[in-house]
Amino acid sequence: MAEIHRASTTAPVNIAVIKYWGKRDPKLNLPTNSSLSVTLSQSDLRTHTTASCSPAYPSSDTLLLNGSSQDVTGARTQACFRELRALRKSIEDADSSAPKLSSYPLKIVSENNFPTAAGLASSAAGFAALVRAIANLYELPASPTELSRIARQGSGSACRSLFGGYVGWEQGAAADGSDSVAFQVAPASHWPDMRALILVASAAKKDVSSTSGMQTTVATSSLFASRAAETVPRRMKEMQNAVQDKDFEAFGKVTMMDSNSFHATCLDTYPPIFYLNDTSRAAIKVVEAINTAAGKIIAAYTFDAGPNAVIYYLEENEKKVAGLFKAALGEKDGWAGQRGDAVEANGDALEKAKAEA
Ligand code: DP6
Repeated sequence: MAEIHRASTTAPVNIAVIKYWGKRDPKLNLPTNSSLSVTLSQSDLRTHTTASCSPAYPSSDTLLLNGSSQDVTGARTQACFRELRALRKSIEDADSSAPKLSSYPLKIVSENNFPTAAGLASSAAGFAALVRAIANLYELPASPTELSRIARQGSGSACRSLFGGYVGWEQGAAADGSDSVAFQVAPASHWPDMRALILVASAAKKDVSSTSGMQTTVATSSLFASRAAETVPRRMKEMQNAVQDKDFEAFGKVTMMDSNSFHATCLDTYPPIFYLNDTSRAAIKVVEAINTAAGKIIAAYTFDAGPNAVIYYLEENEKKVAGLFKAALGEKDGWAGQRGDAVEANGDALEKAKAEA
């Protein structure tokens, strides 16, 4: 029997509260601005990945996601494979007794514990898990920072899924991208009562992918330059302070304003990009009504490149925030009762929630 080497890992989904949108170097996937995210609980949303390699495998690398075969020939996946193999090769060159894993074909098997079709930041968890599973397989002494530099080349937001808790991605200045890496702002235990509610407004695949959407925004939006140069740098500081001080009002305000700013640059793109739909806008109204009723910010919405809402709130406000959404929308099977409960939303239910708020 030929030898088979194998290692597994999981990586969480992260949802940005200061959005990454724009590449200064598309090849190395270097961003035009820094960003910051909250890592979601792995009991809710995560990718589990097993990487194996063997001299007996057929000659090409393979990747299976939720049972279906994926293309691995794209530049992004190839960049991750190449970097990880080079690190393994240096171990093999230094120690002639080390098995020559870098020369064996790779077989990657990934499973998401959430519907991939729902468009919930699956590439972030996916590339983070892929990179760490191969790093484990190759027994690389690489730090999470080093792995984040590699995962960034698979998908920008993936670099933030190598850390838990509150995570920044420093845009960096080096032309080779060596300093464009993720860093932990604070562990989850620093502010453990943070909760995220996910409202699936549409499970359809997004019209405009993040990659092509952000390229068009950089090329055509007149709002974009000031967002990247002034607005985001200021908000990165405000957000890091809000997390350090566990100041939900500041956290919530900056989260909502940055989501609005990102979607404003999408609308300002030519041709315009519409990620939000009527259901998304109804969710914004519900959050506004909740905050008005509370007399302060206790809920904050944010939207990525699609209509689904992520609502952040603190556990003490579970009833006022998630309770209201859930009562009106009904709980989605299997996802109830966990941190970061997800509910499925439709326009009617959200209208009802809004009316009752
Ligand atoms: C709106 O990381 O998916 O979710 O680097 O091209 O793969 P690529 O883009 P991706 O973009 C994420 C954009 C976002 C904001 C964010 O997560 O920061």
